Amino acid sequence: MLPVALASAVVVGLTAGAAQAGEVEVLHWWTSGGEAKAAAALKATLQAKGHTWKDFAVAGGGGDSAMTVLKSRVVSGNAPAAAQIKGPSLQEWAAEGVLANIDDVAKAEKWDSLLPPVVANVMKYKGNYIAAPVNVHRVNWLWANPAAFKKAGAKVPTNWDEFFVAADKLKAAGIIPVAHGGQNWQDFTTFESVALGVGGADFYKKALVQLDQGALKSPTMTKVLTTFKKVKDYTDKNAPGRDWNLATAMVIKGEAGMQLMGDWAKGEFIAAGKVPGKDFSCSAAPGTAKSFTFNVDSFAMFKLKSEANVKAQKDLAAAIMSTEFQEIFNLNKGSIPVRLNMDLSKFDDCAKLSSKDFVDTAKSGSLVPSIAHGMAVPSAAQGAIQDVVSQFWNSDKMTATEAMDKIASAAKIH
Ligand code: BGC
Repeated sequence: MLPVALASAVVVGLTAGAAQAGEVEVLHWWTSGGEAKAAAALKATLQAKGHTWKDFAVAGGGGDSAMTVLKSRVVSGNAPAAAQIKGPSLQEWAAEGVLANIDDVAKAEKWDSLLPPVVANVMKYKGNYIAAPVNVHRVNWLWANPAAFKKAGAKVPTNWDEFFVAADKLKAAGIIPVAHGGQNWQDFTTFESVALGVGGADFYKKALVQLDQGALKSPTMTKVLTTFKKVKDYTDKNAPGRDWNLATAMVIKGEAGMQLMGDWAKGEFIAAGKVPGKDFSCSAAPGTAKSFTFNVDSFAMFKLKSEANVKAQKDLAAAIMSTEFQEIFNLNKGSIPVRLNMDLSKFDDCAKLSSKDFVDTAKSGSLVPSIAHGMAVPSAAQGAIQDVVSQFWNSDKMTATEAMDKIASAAKIH
């Protein structure tokens, strides 16, 4: 038996420890195979600090459903501690006065010197950090099944002309050329890669970042829309409503030849035990090898009342930027670390290419924010343009000119 004094000291010690431990409720939409593994790494990181993880997963690729649920929770005064919020939406949430200032963590951990300025600026509101970034996803990728391409005698395309040549060959070989999920955000993901490949980075920036009316109503935009719509001819009839990871599974199994999707798709290939360069290939979406559409996932921190939970929230923010977490999380997620100067020796060639292109395109001016993934424009304009893009994709009647006019009007919404 412990002497009484020692026993009570132990109890006091335990209680003090317990008072430090908090709970962090984390809203995210990482529910696919690869995503869930990455989310598990986040959970383990928090638990290793002695805190409790409360999972708040809202299924739905691209996060549209998650954002709807988040709004209702915050409106009813019951915000989670952390939520996956990205790009300009961070500023919108911060302007509502609901986000916490985590500058103390950022200063102690030297985030300003560890993050590319293009990322750090987005994580700050009025100069203060309000969110912690986890990764850099590249959106302009083309995923292909080499065995399917071999069977079809096709070559992985590097521009849009070659894309349709390869698609025809895959079709002739009885393979679905393009694995697609007909959900608005997936249509929009395809659209932005076509816009970048057909129009180039300068056009992309003018039209889809600056929302310049001249660029939105231009012959280049007509060409983008026509090319985009043509891709649909190479998707299958079961595409409507399909989740993105099920589309990826079609490429994994060789039922489909290729998929246009961000590198969270790589997380699915990896989770299925597939090897890059052998079982699947990653290459820039046609015509976009010299550009990079970035999509940075980040966790916004909400204002909390409980001191213990604030401590847990700050521990989470600090852990997210640690080299250990950045490595394990991104190996599973398919993205690259957002923290600069990381050792990438455990990463595959897709990630290494992504990292090189991220740096190169930042220098050349062809690093552009993804509009489909909430990086480029305010959420209202993004949603309105996305809706028109999907209407056009799904309509048998709407012409490219009509779509162009509607997109230009949608771009004025804020
Ligand atoms: C997110 C990714 C996620 C993907 C599919 C994107 O918007 O940035 O983290 O994996 O949607 O759900």
